[in-house]
Amino acid sequence: MKYFLFILSLMFLGVCVLPAQAQDHGHDSSDKNAHAVVHPPHMHWSFEGMFGTYDQAALQRGLKVYREVCAACHSLKRVYFRNLEALGYDEGQVKAIASEYSVTDGPNDEGEMFDRSARPSDRFPGPYANDNAAKAANNGALPPDLSLIIKARHDGANYVRSLLTGYEPPPAHSALLPGQNWNKYMPGNIIAMAPPLADGQVAYEDGAPQVVEQYADDVVHFLTWASDPSMETRKRTGIAVLIFLSVFAGIMYAYKRKIWANLH
Ligand code: HEC
Repeated sequence: MKYFLFILSLMFLGVCVLPAQAQDHGHDSSDKNAHAVVHPPHMHWSFEGMFGTYDQAALQRGLKVYREVCAACHSLKRVYFRNLEALGYDEGQVKAIASEYSVTDGPNDEGEMFDRSARPSDRFPGPYANDNAAKAANNGALPPDLSLIIKARHDGANYVRSLLTGYEPPPAHSALLPGQNWNKYMPGNIIAMAPPLADGQVAYEDGAPQVVEQYADDVVHFLTWASDPSMETRKRTGIAVLIFLSVFAGIMYAYKRKIWANLH
């Protein structure tokens, strides 16, 4: 029994300690350029922890915020329309969403590129033809692709949520150039993105509050899904594996006792 408990506790140690260590490493590397940055407060997210899941209503609202606000400047290149079925949309709804976009296809028989309406097998088209066009339209700053942004920033969900709600009037000593904004959570505090959200900007059909904080929560929920769409399957598999290993360890222990019983 002692050994069994030992193996069990080793397994749980592994589950608890390894992710914590991984986070520590992330912290170290981001500290170098994180001077003058206020650490984002920790929000409660349904997708956190070993049993975390995405909230489909939040995902659908977040998609709406992305489409109606962020998509004006940010691409979402790694997401295919067909992936939206994970948000609870059926095939017909996904087709309808895709058909609202136009993508460039080709070349056709005459060798010309042409525009057609998007299909579920297409990715979200970006707002700009290329990075230079994106910079030219944003005072020289490039709005990053948002597909992996939650993974690309330390403590991504809390950081982006705070960034979207962290605009403040600049302190007296700061000399902001035109097109620059003051944000408590941006490393260096100066950000080229103007405050993108305002109360009442996006109409929700499910009665959720139409305020900046809720928009920020929802779009972060959606972007977390975009950067980690198989999170739920991975966690479910992990739990199943742990249960299997525990049972298997028990059987092996009983078996070992049986084999050695005659020798004592
Ligand atoms: C009018 C254009 C515009 C809109 C609309 C917009 N952004 Fe941005 N965003 C930018 C630009 C430009 C940058 C680059 C800022 C910089 O480098 O200073 C940026 C940067 C960012 C960053 C990266 C910050 C970092 O740590 O480097 C995130 C995250 C972000 N935007 C999220 C969003 C989200 C979410 C929305 C929708 C709610 C949104 N943005 C709407 C223009 C926009």
